[in-house]
Parts: sequence; structure tokens; C-alpha cells
Amino acid sequence: MERLTTIAEARAVSRAARAADRRVVLVPTMGALHEGHLALVEQAGDEGDVVVVSIFVNPTQFGPDEDYEAYPRTLETDEETLRRQGRATHVFAPTVQEMYPDGPAAQRTTVSVNQLTDTLCGAVRPGHFDGVTTVVSMLLHIVQPHVAVFGQKDAQQLAVIRRMVRDLHLPVDIVAVPTVRESDGLARSSRNAYLTPEERAQAPALYEALSAAATAVQQGELQVGPLVRRMQAILADAPLVHPQYIEVVDARELSPVERLQPGQRILLAVAVYFGDTRLIDNIPLTVPTRT
Ligand code: PAJ
Repeated sequence: MERLTTIAEARAVSRAARAADRRVVLVPTMGALHEGHLALVEQAGDEGDVVVVSIFVNPTQFGPDEDYEAYPRTLETDEETLRRQGRATHVFAPTVQEMYPDGPAAQRTTVSVNQLTDTLCGAVRPGHFDGVTTVVSMLLHIVQPHVAVFGQKDAQQLAVIRRMVRDLHLPVDIVAVPTVRESDGLARSSRNAYLTPEERAQAPALYEALSAAATAVQQGELQVGPLVRRMQAILADAPLVHPQYIEVVDARELSPVERLQPGQRILLAVAVYFGDTRLIDNIPLTVPTRT
């Protein structure tokens, strides 16, 4: 496995791979790799021959009061983890200077996906998704993969990127991987490391709340009010959890729904704070059609 740090190196690898008729797959990450990321890399290995894992903590997607400085940077360990897994052929780990030569604040070109970014995390993290879509566009233009792999864990990010690719006719296939969880249901996240033992003990409440609502939908509940109240009640049993949003949205448009339609693809989604630590989780599902 080779480490690439410059855009020129990454381009050269991609060009050579394409010339040799090999399929290039990109897995964008911010590092601090865990089982969730590794599931994406595993899938990437099944999708193609040259698997580039990008590791870049992208400053433009963090708000001024967010954890950009504190975000874990563990490149050596990450490379060791990937080497052990044996699926990645390259790590692309550029510096901020390489990606934003005049500094992130001097970037004048932004890729924005409208409307889909007005709800859920977009409503409470202004500018976040512009940072994501801009850096993902940059990575797609640098690595020029046939396929890029993203996690269902960040459901809004996935929907926004799919929409960007569709709207801009970008020549890449987006592949999604289901959320990887701890044995107690907590979705794997680099930010889980910030939790105190007491907070960690209450963290499974997110998935419990989502699962209870998913079960209710499977059993025929079509009204959103009772679903949200069910999730609120379960989260209220975990006193260290401070919910930010608890929502039921259409899976493609990410717009709130009031009454579920049989056959509709929806997303149950929550964001909570434990102290300063923000965790998100979701369950995608299709509303059952009556039998
Ligand atoms: P990061 O949070 O490092 O996540 C990288 C990828 O791993 C994303 O596609 C995310 O959805 C996926 N992922 C994280 N935890 C997961 C889990 N438990 N199960 C399955 N997939 C999981 O998302 C980002 O980085 C950035 O916004 C990025 C797209 C790299 C742009 O900077």
C-alpha cells in the first residue's frame, strides 16, 4: 500500500490504472478509521482493482465552534489498519495546503446542493454540506474513480452526494454501505471516542429509539406524531442525552413527512448531544404496503 500526498501523484496513479483498464474506487474519509470505514474499504475492494482511501480532515465542513482542531488525526495507525485489512492499494493524505493552496478561507468556488441541505443536519450546521460537497467534488476530480463508496451512517451526506452526482452528470457510481454498529447497537463513529463511560453507557438509546419507531412502522403506524413521540420517550430515559432533532423524512428529498405513504422510502433520523459530543444515527426503511 502506497501513501500519496500530492494531487499530481494521485492523478498519476489514476491515469495509469485507467490506461491499464483497471477500475478505480475511492473511499473518502477523515481518518481515525474504525470498523465502519473498513466496511466501506472492503466493499471498495469488491468494486474494483485500485482502491484509494482518502484521509483528509476537511476544514471547510466544520463550523467555527465545531471540533476541527480536536478531530483525531492518526495517519500512521490508520495506514497500519488498512495494511492489515489488505484491501486498500493507496492512501491519499494531502495537506490542507495541497487542497486549499491559498487557505480554506480563500476558496471562492463552492458546490452547493439546495433544499436537501435545509433539513436535518443541514438546518443546524450551516455551511457544513457545502464543505462536504466541495471537498468530495475536489476528490472526485483528483482521483477520477469509477466508483466512490459512502456510508449509510451519514444518510443526509449520502443523499446530497447522490444528488450532486446526478445533477452535475459526474461520471462516477455511488455505492452505499449499511451502518456498522457496536454489539449494543451504537453506530461506529470517530466521535464515540469523546464519550465518557457514563455517556457511552447511555449511547445505545439512539438505536433503541430508532428501532422502536422502525418496528412501529413495520406494524402499520402511518402517522409521524406517534413515531416521534415514541423516539422522544426512549431518549428521555437516557438523562445524559440531549436531543437536537428527531425526525421522519422522505429518504430522497429529505423533506419532513406528516403521514407515511405505503411503499414510500423514508428515513428515521436523530441527532443528539452528550455534553459537547454530537452523535447522529438513522434507519432507512420502506413503508410496508398493506396486505
Ligand atoms: P468520515 O466521518 O470519516 O466518514 C467517512 C465515510 O465513512 C462516510 O461515507 C461515512 O458515512 C462512513 N461511515 C462512518 N461511520 C460509519 C459506520 N458506522 N458505518 C458505515 N459507514 C460509516 O463523512 C466524512 O468522513 C466526510 O464528510 C467526507 C465524506 C470524507 C468528506 O470530508
